[in-house]
Amino acid sequence: MHVHVVTIFPELFASPLAVGIVKRARDAGLLRISLIDLRAYTSDRHRSTDDYPYGGGSGMVMRPEPIVAALDAIALGAARARRILLSPRGRLLDDARARALVGEEDIVLVCGRYEGVDERVRHFIDEEVSIGDYVLSGGELAALVVIEAMTRLLPGALGNEASARTESFASGMLEYPQYTRPETFRGLSVPAVLLSGDHAAIARWRTEQAERVTRRNRPDLLDG
Ligand code: 6GU
Repeated sequence: MHVHVVTIFPELFASPLAVGIVKRARDAGLLRISLIDLRAYTSDRHRSTDDYPYGGGSGMVMRPEPIVAALDAIALGAARARRILLSPRGRLLDDARARALVGEEDIVLVCGRYEGVDERVRHFIDEEVSIGDYVLSGGELAALVVIEAMTRLLPGALGNEASARTESFASGMLEYPQYTRPETFRGLSVPAVLLSGDHAAIARWRTEQAERVTRRNRPDLLDG
């Protein structure tokens, strides 16, 4: 899949996209990322991407012309690209949404900044996505979250071991507790069942623990 990112901070993306699973997916040709500097699509002397809000009020608003010019330019090479605006007003990203996006050949992620984006931009956008109920200064970190969540779901991007792990959210429960060596650490022992070699007992214990953790931290996943 090809992800086109429209941002005023393309440099912010370099290192997160150059490590781990995302790097491997790019190297393997499973994922292509194009960073598009929004300022390249400004036409005024100051290359401004924001302006004062009509009606007054504090903060600045992103101007529509550069964003839509960037979208037009992307459309020349990827006419059917799905256009997503990252904004705290969007629908919450979850496992199902990430899985749906991975089905797309081309995706455009538009990173909003400042206090908001001119409402008319939304006429040129297919959907608006948020990553949680808190406000970030811009959509850049959210775009990286979307990219990483999608990449993990790309066929072939993960090894087998990790790929089983990805299924856990789809199963509707949080992960069970994991332990590695040493057997006793600062007086804390590994649960005996994990050392028992009884695979059925281990599987039962893990299911119980997953339910316990989910009930405690995310009861909405069990009742919803
Ligand atoms: Cl996508 N953008 C911004 N600016 N803040 C957010 C967000 C996105 N998701 C949660 N908070």
